[in-house]
Amino acid sequence: MINLVIGGAGFVGVNLSDMLMANGETVVCIDNFSRFGSGLIDRFLSHDYFSYYELDCTDEQGLNTVFKNFSDHRDEVLVWHLAANSDIPAGIDNLKIDVKDTFLSTAVILNCMKQVGFKKIFFASSSAVYGDHGGVALRENSGPLNPISNYGAMKLASEAMLSACTESFLELALVFRFPNVVGVPATHGVIYDFINRLRENGSVLEVLGDGSQRKVYLHVSDLIDALIHLRKLGRVGFEVFNIGPSDDGVTVQAIAEEVCSVFGGNPVIKYGSDRKGWVGDVPRFRYDVRKIGSVGWQSSRNSREAIELAASEICQSMV
Ligand SMILES: NC(=O)c1ccc[n+]([C@@H]2O[C@H](COP(=O)([O-])OP(=O)(O)OC[C@H]3O[C@@H](n4cnc5c(N)ncnc54)[C@H](O)[C@@H]3O)[C@@H](O)[C@H]2O)c1
Repeated sequence: MINLVIGGAGFVGVNLSDMLMANGETVVCIDNFSRFGSGLIDRFLSHDYFSYYELDCTDEQGLNTVFKNFSDHRDEVLVWHLAANSDIPAGIDNLKIDVKDTFLSTAVILNCMKQVGFKKIFFASSSAVYGDHGGVALRENSGPLNPISNYGAMKLASEAMLSACTESFLELALVFRFPNVVGVPATHGVIYDFINRLRENGSVLEVLGDGSQRKVYLHVSDLIDALIHLRKLGRVGFEVFNIGPSDDGVTVQAIAEEVCSVFGGNPVIKYGSDRKGWVGDVPRFRYDVRKIGSVGWQSSRNSREAIELAASEICQSMV
């Protein structure tokens, strides 16, 4: 199997690449290195199964040229589309960011796949497509889908385009709606943010929002396990899966306390007064994971265990 991992130099991409290469599969990373440089893939550079292209995937001509290198093996190609803007507040300040990196990326990838004859794509979508429903458990095929960030809106638009392309030229489009994913190498997210703040000032941790936000968290090792499990099922057509633990989540207050305890030094935790951390933040979120359960997968860790493990991993890797 030839895995074209677009956005492969980010947090999920390197964890996925690790697992694929451990299975003896070829990984081709395509990334513009815009967010974190190429540092996270350094350790793969001498690996026989790994190669990479520095490319913005919205550059249609460039992407077509890369794809054509694999056109003789088109039936063995699986495209993993992981590229997106992962700075949600930045995309709210400037909607062009999500239009380009979260949506146009999808449109250009699909157009190039069509031209070269690639027929299988796995897409990293997000719980952000649902919007704010006050913590009601949401199913894949139930609405309303009312995103409250441009990031969520452009993920939803991407899903719609994948569905339409499955009607014409795609054989397989699996859409995975991830919740908050935690682990190393962390590139963003609440634990990463808290540890960065504590590194600047170890005596006080200022928290965005009142700490009552409650969401589900998935450890990245469980996410990769779910992706590999779903790939093995050999589905066809367009399908959407929520991936996550089945619990009702962990509060931001509990995460702040866990991070402070792992970081040490007994910092004072100061909370804001808003129920949301920022504009576009979904303060209570959980979803229904019965569909992925029905095909034989469940998370090995609940949200609390995922947070505890990731806090210790991220702290060790950053301090
Ligand atoms: N990590 C999470 O908690 C989470 C939750 C829900 C969904 N997701 C989705 O999963 C995917 C992977 O997330 P991640 O945490 O690894 O994000 P990340 O930001 O660590 O990695 C994304 C990678 O995509 C690259 N990229 C962005 N725009 C690009 C472009 N136009 N051309 C080429 N490369 C580009 C970036 O340089 C980066 O290396 C993303 O699509 C994200 O939206 C992640």
